[in-house]
Amino acid sequence: MDILEKQSRKKVEDRMGIFKIAIGLLLMAGDVMAQGQTPPMAEQVFKNVQILKGIPVDEFMNTMGMFSAATSMNCTDCHTSDSTSTWDKFANDTPLKQTARKMMLMVNALNKDNFRGVRTVTCYTCHRGDRRPQPVPSLAVQYGEPVEDPNMIDVFPPGQPPADQVFEKYVQALGGAQRLAALTAFTAKGTYDGYDTDQAKVAVEIFAKAPAQRTTIVHAPFGDSVRVFDGRAGWIASADKPSPLMPLTGGNLDGAKIDAIIAFPAGIKQAFNQWRVSSTTIKDKDVRVLQGTNPRQPPVNFYFDESGLLVRLVRFADTAVGRVPTQIDFADYREVSGVKMPFLWTTTWTDGQSTTRLSEVQPNVQIDAARFGRPAPAPPPKSQD
Ligand code: HEC
Ligand code: HEC
Repeated sequence: MDILEKQSRKKVEDRMGIFKIAIGLLLMAGDVMAQGQTPPMAEQVFKNVQILKGIPVDEFMNTMGMFSAATSMNCTDCHTSDSTSTWDKFANDTPLKQTARKMMLMVNALNKDNFRGVRTVTCYTCHRGDRRPQPVPSLAVQYGEPVEDPNMIDVFPPGQPPADQVFEKYVQALGGAQRLAALTAFTAKGTYDGYDTDQAKVAVEIFAKAPAQRTTIVHAPFGDSVRVFDGRAGWIASADKPSPLMPLTGGNLDGAKIDAIIAFPAGIKQAFNQWRVSSTTIKDKDVRVLQGTNPRQPPVNFYFDESGLLVRLVRFADTAVGRVPTQIDFADYREVSGVKMPFLWTTTWTDGQSTTRLSEVQPNVQIDAARFGRPAPAPPPKSQD
């Protein structure tokens, strides 16, 4: 390693140090520290982390998602093809991994030298889904139809109805405030299929309690994959993750909270400091967009169809190399004790896509508080032959 590289690496490490402190503060804000749970850092869990040190495991994995999304490369394109069999193999270096490390140093230097260290340039800025960024402008793009991505909302034109009015319509469409207030808990059963189950349909169970507790258990072929948000802290206990009990941090924790709140929509309005209104189209249908923001957090976008129902939610998580989106599309609203609930939703994020289909919902059942406690670490994966 030459001295220049060494220096810039040192700088990155320094910056990661600051980052670590920032994360520490954030965690304290979330009261996670108060419970004495510091999430393990990437370099403690993985074997060969040279640059992405000082960030929790869930954020490290989001960073890998950003790499894949920005370059359209699969995990095994950068890592060795036997990596899918065991997490250890991801530690082996390849020429493309080395290039990606250099790219991280380059991006950090670009932001430091030109954008006061603010993460303005990301992997996506240049790559835009191409493994090799295009150096020549495309006339097809210049003269083609502009593509509007409904997930990228940054214009809030005047003439939109106030946010309160959009919420009011949503509450009415769901069955009215009174019925919503009467639904305080439910359990649900159905099927789940996704990248993590190799698209196989498996059983899923959901436990939810107002205002914001939610546990999802996917009975995957490799064992139960458990996600819990207890109202403040969140975890994933799943044998397909790099650690058997992964605490959620940053944008992942905020995201888990939103997923829990939207099951009891009365709380959505209070969950954000500021609301802005816009409109766009999803699959040629007009939708109204509410964007909620809180200080020092990425925004969350809520999309409502003409009848007033929530059809999409887009949230973001910050990573060491930029912001990554998660999109949830809701459909098949059915009535459960007078309240409309989505029975079908698709979750799309940079590491995969999954579909959940409910078959039955039991409203207002007693749920044992332990259901929302920190889950036990997942046992090693069941063999799947
Ligand atoms: C563009 C290349 C690239 C892609 C695509 C990529 N990775 Fe990585 N991965 C890296 C680099 C570079 C590192 C080392 C980071 C460092 O040194 O700080 C790494 C490290 C890892 C590690 C830590 C291994 C260890 O023990 O040290 C894991 C686990 C991992 N990646 C998983 C994944 C998964 C899962 C995906 C697909 C979602 C993925 N990666 C996609 C470049 C990539
Ligand atoms: C300032 C623009 C820019 C940014 C930002 C950028 N890259 Fe690159 N990247 C390039 C260019 C240019 C190439 C070389 C393409 C070529 O060889 O034709 C490249 C090549 C690569 C390659 C090698 C592809 C191959 O097949 O050889 C990988 C992997 C890569 N980048 C990953 C990343 C990652 C990960 C990030 C974010 C940490 C990133 N890049 C950010 C411009 C950029």
